[in-house]
Amino acid sequence: MAHEFIKHLKEDHEKQRELGKELQQAKDPKKREKLRQQMHEELNPHVEGEEASIFDYMKKTGGQAHEEALKAIQEHHIAKIVMNELMNLSLESEVFEAKAYVLDELNTHHMDEEEETHFPLLEEIADKGQIDELFELYEETEEEVEKKLI
Ligand SMILES: [Fe+2]
Ligand SMILES: [Fe+2]
Repeated sequence: MAHEFIKHLKEDHEKQRELGKELQQAKDPKKREKLRQQMHEELNPHVEGEEASIFDYMKKTGGQAHEEALKAIQEHHIAKIVMNELMNLSLESEVFEAKAYVLDELNTHHMDEEEETHFPLLEEIADKGQIDELFELYEETEEEVEKKLI
């Protein structure tokens, strides 16, 4: 049985997967605006929350966990850059769909890796009490980032 924190992260991922697909398909500028805003509000608090909790923990653990955490943080970095570019792009730009495609490609790859490698690794190296604490840290950070977005 996965920890409720892991379930929560996977539910967030599902929302991002759906929004990523919708954003690529949207042609209407109003729809694009709404969807990119939703994606931004999903993606940013999620990645900041992960960095403050699971990846910080994995970094401190050392060894393979440390290496994996560093790679995941770099992937977050690139996803945020592409997300910000998409936020600043004209809704009628000819590259809107291509950029939304690339964002979805890299974010989907990243989320698959988290689900297949990072979350199982975390559950090996941390006990339930530690994951409970990481969940609290995640939620605190997520809330702080959400406040900044409003
Ligand atoms: Fe992530
Ligand atoms: Fe994630």
